[in-house]
Order: sequence, then C-alpha cells, then structure tokens
Amino acid sequence: MSENCVKFGVIGCGLMGREFASVSMRWLHLAGDLPRPVIVAACDTSEANREWFRRVPDTKYFYEDYRDLLANPEVEAVYCAVPHHLHAQVYTDVIRAGKHLLGEKPFGMDLDACRAVLEAMEEHPESFVRCASEFPYYPAVQQMVQWFREGAFGQIIEARFAIKHSSDMDLTKPINWKRTRSANGDYGCMGDLGIHTQHLPFRLGFEPLTVSAQLANIARTRPDANGNPVPCETWDNAIVLCEARDGAGDHFPMQLEMKRMAPGCTNTVEYEIYGLKMSAKFTTDDPNAVRYTLARGREQAWARLVVGQKTLYPVITGSIFEFGFSDSLLQMFAAFISELRGLPCPFGCFTPNEALLSHRVLTAALQSYTQQRVVQL
Ligand SMILES: NC(=O)c1ccc[n+]([C@@H]2O[C@H](COP(=O)([O-])OP(=O)(O)OC[C@H]3O[C@@H](n4cnc5c(N)ncnc54)[C@H](O)[C@@H]3O)[C@@H](O)[C@H]2O)c1
Repeated sequence: MSENCVKFGVIGCGLMGREFASVSMRWLHLAGDLPRPVIVAACDTSEANREWFRRVPDTKYFYEDYRDLLANPEVEAVYCAVPHHLHAQVYTDVIRAGKHLLGEKPFGMDLDACRAVLEAMEEHPESFVRCASEFPYYPAVQQMVQWFREGAFGQIIEARFAIKHSSDMDLTKPINWKRTRSANGDYGCMGDLGIHTQHLPFRLGFEPLTVSAQLANIARTRPDANGNPVPCETWDNAIVLCEARDGAGDHFPMQLEMKRMAPGCTNTVEYEIYGLKMSAKFTTDDPNAVRYTLARGREQAWARLVVGQKTLYPVITGSIFEFGFSDSLLQMFAAFISELRGLPCPFGCFTPNEALLSHRVLTAALQSYTQQRVVQL
C-alpha cells in the first residue's frame, strides 16, 4: 500500500462512522494527491454495526472496546462518532494515547466535558485535534466567505444561521439516545445542531457578546421500542439571539436557530448575512446557488448566482455539476488531512477553541431560558 495515507481507526460505526467509511473509499474523487484516510480499524459496542465495516476493504481490525483500538500502533488518527455522554472520556483517551482526533460535535456533552478535552490537548500538543462540521464546505457558502474576506458586505446589519429538521414532527417516531438527557445532555437540539450554526460565523470573526434564548420541548413523550410512551425531555427547538461584534468593531444582532420540529424541512441549513453594501444568503434547499443583493441607493434586488462544484479542494467532477451533502463531508475530511499533514488549508475544520466558545454560548442559552434573562458572555 502507498505510504501516502493516514491510517485511521473509527470509534462509533453508526450513521456518521459509515459516512466517513464512504468518504475514505471515494478519495480518488479529489483531483490532487492528498494522503488518503485508510480505515484500518473499526470499533463499536454493537456487533451489527462492527459487521457493517467488513465491507470496507481497508479495515482489518475490529474491536468491541475502544481501548483495544487505541493500543494498536498502526492507528495514527481516530474519527470518533459516539453518543454525546461518551465524548469526554473517549476523546481524552484518544488524545492521551497520542493519536490525532477528528471528534464529532458537540465535542463534549457540556462545558465541563469540552474543557476536559482541551486539558488533555494541553498535555499532548503532538495530537492534532479538530471537531467535525461540514456545511461551510458547500461552494456557495465559501463564496459568501470570499465576499466577506474581500469586505464586500460593508458594515454588517444582522446575521442569521439556522438548521432545521422535521422528522420529529412524526410523534410516532421512537425515542433514541439523541432524545434522552442521559446521553444527549441538557442542550437537547442545541447539542446536536449548534455547531452547524456556529462554524461559519465564528470563523468570520462574529463574536457573541450576549445570549438570549427561547427553548421549546414540544414532544413531551415518544414511544419506546415496545411502542409505550416514555418521557422525552430534550429541547426540540431553540432560537438563540446574540449581540455580536465583528472584526471591524461593529455590533449587530446574530440569530442562531436549531430546530428538530420545523415543518417542511429535512436538514435545511440557512446562512444569511445582511450588510450595508451587500447581503447574501444560502440554503441547502437550493444547494448550488447563493443569493445576493447589491445596494443601489434606495433599491436592492436579489440575484441568484449558481456556483456549482467550485470546491476548496479540486475534484474530478466538472464545475457545472451539483454539489451535495456527501461532497461536503469529502471536503471536510480533505481539510482535516491537509491541516494534519501541514498542507495548505484555506478553511480549516472547527477548532477545539471554537468548540469551547460554542459550549459557552449553549450553556448561556440554558441559563438565559431558565432564568429569563440576557446572559453576558
Ligand atoms: N456532522 C454531522 O452532520 C452529524 C450528523 C449526525 C450525527 N453527528 C454526530 O455524530 C456522533 C454520532 O452520531 P450518529 O448519528 O452517528 O449516532 P449513531 O447512533 O448512528 O452511532 C453511534 C454509534 O456509537 C456506538 N457506540 C455507543 N457506545 C459506544 C462505545 N462505548 N464504544 C464504541 N461505540 C459505541 C453505537 O453502537 C453506534 O453504532 C454524535 O456526536 C452526533 O452529534 C454528526
């Protein structure tokens, strides 16, 4: 096998573990010669989910206990996609085993858990650690980033970042770990969805100064595996309003919306930045395009620019073809491997310090709602 690879172990072979397996097998989609992630080892407590990884030609080690995976010297880096209550323990063990880590969001179930991961990083600066977040890698979102970096927006008027699901509208949908406080934590939908609303604004330098939140637990019960109703205590929807400040020192309202019950949505991501000179908005409902308006005196007209497959990391697909969710994951892993190997990376993965800021915002949102006040960060 070529040495131009990074040997990975996967801990958590569920939904996201499999997405990474798929990415690792379509690496030739990238036009350059970036080292390929080769998943040599897979770990899951569920035998059925471990078994799924037998279809990955690179995977030769299968573990039930992640500590056995960490003891394997062939494993250089770990992608970890396990329930939130396990993040602190597993992520700190990965780092203390001297492995590199791409950990899934929210990067700890709560603020203390996130801090524990950062402490382990301080002890092991040789480990390269990032948090997964793929939506900024849509080319249309990167077009907004480029406009922002060029100063095209002028003074920011306001900004809105949202992610909206609707499968929970089906009240017969059985409860799973993401809807229990013990495994998902107090954040509820904010833990699942928060980072998808934060990677872009944090990277643009939009700093939240205050937090005011409205939280809703709409589905109070859900059926268990036997169809009997059991309490469903997690927040379904959250609207978090911040006063934000940008690098120019301007203050503006920034709204973060995280919803599991948004009628008509599937996994709808919406990013909107309104400025005095220019405004722009993106939605995964129209993933190939970005809408923008240029102010001409009193009148502004929205235009739709079709961006196509103009990716950060060039791909074999022609630029006229559509970009989608799995393409964004390919770009995110390309960014992780580039940074890990010290190669150019124009827009890096969500950093642990950004994850810490995310936890401070989400913790403040819980305080804001329960204490009915605006919380200063
Ligand atoms: N980036 C994204 O778009 C995105 C999307 C969905 C989920 N996620 C995140 O990915 C993570 C996992 O979510 P998922 O949807 O893949 O969940 P999932 O339930 O599909 O998979 C989790 C897996 O972890 C396994 N597991 C549980 N305990 C374990 C242990 N001790 N050791 C090894 N494996 C164990 C489970 O058996 C399961 O296979 C979460 O942090 C979630 O927030 C990210």
